[in-house]
Amino acid sequence: MYDNLLDAIGNTPLVKLNLDTPAQLYAKLEYLNPGGSVKDRSARYMIEHAIKTGLLKPGGTIIDASSGNQGAATAMIGALKGYKVIITVSEKISQEKLQTIQAYGAHVVMCPSTATIDDPRSYHSVAKRIQKETPNSFMPDQYFNPLNTEGHYYSLGPEVWQQTKGTITHFFAGAGTGGTISGAGRYLKEQNPDVRVIALDSINSYRATNGNPKPYKVEGMGIDFDSPVINYNVIDDIVTVSDNDALGILKTLAANHGLLVGPSSGAVAYGAYRYAQKLSKNDVVVMIFGDSGRAYLTKNFYTQDQSSINTITPPPYTNTVSHKQLFDQSE
Ligand SMILES: Cc1ncc(COP(=O)(O)O)c(C=O)c1O
Repeated sequence: MYDNLLDAIGNTPLVKLNLDTPAQLYAKLEYLNPGGSVKDRSARYMIEHAIKTGLLKPGGTIIDASSGNQGAATAMIGALKGYKVIITVSEKISQEKLQTIQAYGAHVVMCPSTATIDDPRSYHSVAKRIQKETPNSFMPDQYFNPLNTEGHYYSLGPEVWQQTKGTITHFFAGAGTGGTISGAGRYLKEQNPDVRVIALDSINSYRATNGNPKPYKVEGMGIDFDSPVINYNVIDDIVTVSDNDALGILKTLAANHGLLVGPSSGAVAYGAYRYAQKLSKNDVVVMIFGDSGRAYLTKNFYTQDQSSINTITPPPYTNTVSHKQLFDQSE
């Protein structure tokens, strides 16, 4: 029982995933956080720190750039604590994520998908500009704020360590800002330097293409510039995944394993699955499943082939019993 919704963030389940690998694979179901993603942790940490240190004052406005999930988390926290929230997003965002942010009462500013974050039209540049122009406002600035990483260091890392009882050997998470992998990864390596920390990136990202990024469909994940939030000292390997591979595994995860997860979780699952082929049965692999597939249903990543859908024509309606009769019978 919690007095405060934000205390319900974290303590998400770690569930075995039976894929055909020698190693043991476990998925950390971060979509079960109240705001629906792993980003509840970093948003809460940065905002509570800003309130404590006076950067965010009563009646203030919180502004941030987000691929959607940080925005939803920020909007949820703003709704609970009584702050106005403005979130800048890029055109790539799913309708579901957009409407989720709006449902929490936040204002959304749509920006074009730009190749670089310092483009004045990018969602990051626009958020910075709005923050400068808005009195009594605060920008968590997840792409540049080291507290983003710290949020995961103090919550996600310890949970994974405790849930695996210290047996974890490999940690996989998608990297966008890099906060999740760097924060939780640092904590795990401090407990046991032998834990391998592996980041997932898009094959088309700025980093993966040596500064010549191409568009990609996976949301939230992809190292799109030299983010100061990423701590490469704790990352042992970076695995790149194509849209096809990340999206291709989503149907299997949902229909064969009951895990309806978003595209970045598809990338993590695919990357970890391939990687784990070389591991042994004593290896314990933890994968961060950052958000739910429910946030992407309109993108049709999960739809069955139309030919496999059985359409059954319902029989004509013959019920002559009125609602009143039904009601009377049950009395
Ligand atoms: C679903 C999902 N997975 C992974 C990430 C990447 O997390 P991070 O920004 O901590 O690197 C994000 C970031 O928004 C996300 O929304």
